[in-house]
Parts: sequence; structure tokens; C-alpha cells
Amino acid sequence: MRIAIASDESGWHTRRLLAALRARGADGRTFDLAQARLDTTHAGHGLVLPGFGRELPDAVFVRGIAGGSFEQVTRRLAVLHALQALGVPVYNDARAIERSVDKSMTTLLLHAAGLPTPPTWALESPQLAQRLVMRESAAGRSLVLKPLFGSQGKGLQRVGWVVDDEHPQGRHVPLPALDAGFGGVAYLQRFVPARTRPGHDWRVLVVGGVARAAMRRFGRHWIHNVAQGARCEPQPLDRGDGPRLARLAEAATHALGLDYAGVDLMPGDDGPLVIEVNGVAAWQGLQRVTAGDIAGWLVDDLLGRKCAAAGRRLRA
Ligand SMILES: Nc1ncnc2c1ncn2[C@@H]1O[C@H](COP(=O)(O)OP(=O)(O)O)[C@@H](O)[C@H]1O
Ligand SMILES: [Mg+2]
Repeated sequence: MRIAIASDESGWHTRRLLAALRARGADGRTFDLAQARLDTTHAGHGLVLPGFGRELPDAVFVRGIAGGSFEQVTRRLAVLHALQALGVPVYNDARAIERSVDKSMTTLLLHAAGLPTPPTWALESPQLAQRLVMRESAAGRSLVLKPLFGSQGKGLQRVGWVVDDEHPQGRHVPLPALDAGFGGVAYLQRFVPARTRPGHDWRVLVVGGVARAAMRRFGRHWIHNVAQGARCEPQPLDRGDGPRLARLAEAATHALGLDYAGVDLMPGDDGPLVIEVNGVAAWQGLQRVTAGDIAGWLVDDLLGRKCAAAGRRLRA
């Protein structure tokens, strides 16, 4: 088996995946989607993946897609779609990655599946967005403004009526200009206040439909991403909040059609709320508090379930 790992950088995650593949007798090779080409003169299928000659890999693990212009990102996703159309299993599924990268689509699908998620708005009119922020602010609430394609807790801002340690009485924070950093889109989600001190969120990893590991993340501030320096504690899935978190994370992953996902949840008034679903999820923080080898679980699911299903389709 020759497995391609699509990644724009080689680091801890790709090393873990390559080792897990090797341990299972598969040959892993990384390539950058930005370097993958369309060339109708090269081979019948028209694709060139660096390191694969005229061949196509037996499967592709999508570990990273570099940001770029609208055209560049569309083309990189098109390579994944093309691979899938040519019968190469892509993990996560290309369409599911698109759904999960777009926070508005994620919210829409969570909502349609009846899963608890905070009230959320996505719109382009600055006037309407401003009016919404004023209305929420007047009711004493704040909203989180997020870059539509954001990740790792970057670029998030609280707007509306913000109460924090610096302003315990609260103050109004207006909506910033949406062009820089937000691409002209206002994705606004009602802020979920911390219920404990310090506050935390949860990350649950779902692989092949099953929640396998979870942690509580304690950020330095209200943003609890590991990339922003959060401290991680294991969250058992078989007791306390665990079973409920597992059920929600599995349903959220299913709603987006993902093979595996890192699901972010926060404690709400009536139980956990699903905040976000990551289809290109990092697991270094989770690995630190998890006994099993996460890369091994992912590779087993890719080789065992995903590739086996693709093989069955080809033979049918
Ligand atoms: N509605 C919200 N209320 C309170 N905190 C939030 C809310 N949305 C996000 N956060 C905090 O910010 C973090 C990052 O938000 P998230 O939507 O997961 O974006 P990213 O893709 O950058 O991880 C979350 O893990 C959580 O700690
Ligand atoms: Mg997140």
C-alpha cells in the first residue's frame, strides 16, 4: 500500500503518521497539495503528485492544506476531489473537509441535525451585522466574531456587551470592519460564558464514527486552543460528562460526513454545546494526555475501514 500524506509542512504529526503506516507495512509519503499538478499530457488520469511518478497512491490522508488565494485553495481542493473521483480514498473525504473548514456550513449542518450549538449568524451586510451586535449588546450579551475559515483560535474577537476581568462592569465593543481578516463575512456566535473558574472547553476525537479520546482544555483567556497555550487534562469518556460528550461528538462528526474529527464543545446551561468540528484536526495536545497511539488509530481506520470500503466499491 502506498499512502500519500497531504501536508504543507513536515513535523510531529506527519512523523507519527509515517511511523504508524510503516508499523503496518504500508509505505507513506508526504506531498504538498500546492505542488500537485494537473497535466493532461502526463498520464491518463491527468494528475501529477510529486513523488508518485505516473502512479496514483492507494489512499490520501489529508493532514494540511495551506491557505492561499481563493483560486489556489479551490485548485488544491479540486485535486482532492479529482483523486476521489479516480477511486482513490481521501481521508477525510474531500467534500466533508470543505464542509468543516467553512464554519457557517458546519453550524448549518449541526443545527439541521438537531445538535445543541450556540445561536449563530453568518451574513455579509455590515449594516445588518452591526444591528445584530447592537441588539445583543443591549440585552447584555456578547458575540464571538470568527474568521469563516479560521483555526487554532486565531483572529477571534468578542463584540457587543463584553464583561471581563478588565471591565467587570461591562462595556460595549463595536463590530470591527469586516474586510481585513474576515473576508467581508460576519460569522457571529453568541458568547458562552465560563461556568467555572478557570473556564474550559472540551476536545473530543472521533475516529471511524467512535469517540476515542477527549480532554479538557484550560486556556489562559477565554480561547482554549492548544495552539494558544491551553493546558490539557484528560476527560474520560465513560463517566461524568464523558458519555454525553461522546454521543454529541459522534453525532456532529456524522452530521458533517467526516471519517474522523476533532470536535470542540463547551459547557452550556442545559449541557454541552458543540462549538466547532475540525476535519483536519491536530492531535499533539490530546496525545499528551492519551494512553493509546492516536496516529495508529487513524491509520487503522484509514487502512481497515476506509480502504476496505473503497475496495468493495471497486469490485462491485
Ligand atoms: N461561542 C463561544 N463562546 C465562548 N467561547 C468560544 C465560543 N466560540 C469559540 N470559543 C472559544 O474559542 C476557541 C476557538 O473557537 P473555535 O470556534 O473552535 O475556532 P478555531 O477554529 O479557531 O479553533 C474555542 O475552543 C473556545 O475556547
Ligand atoms: Mg476549535
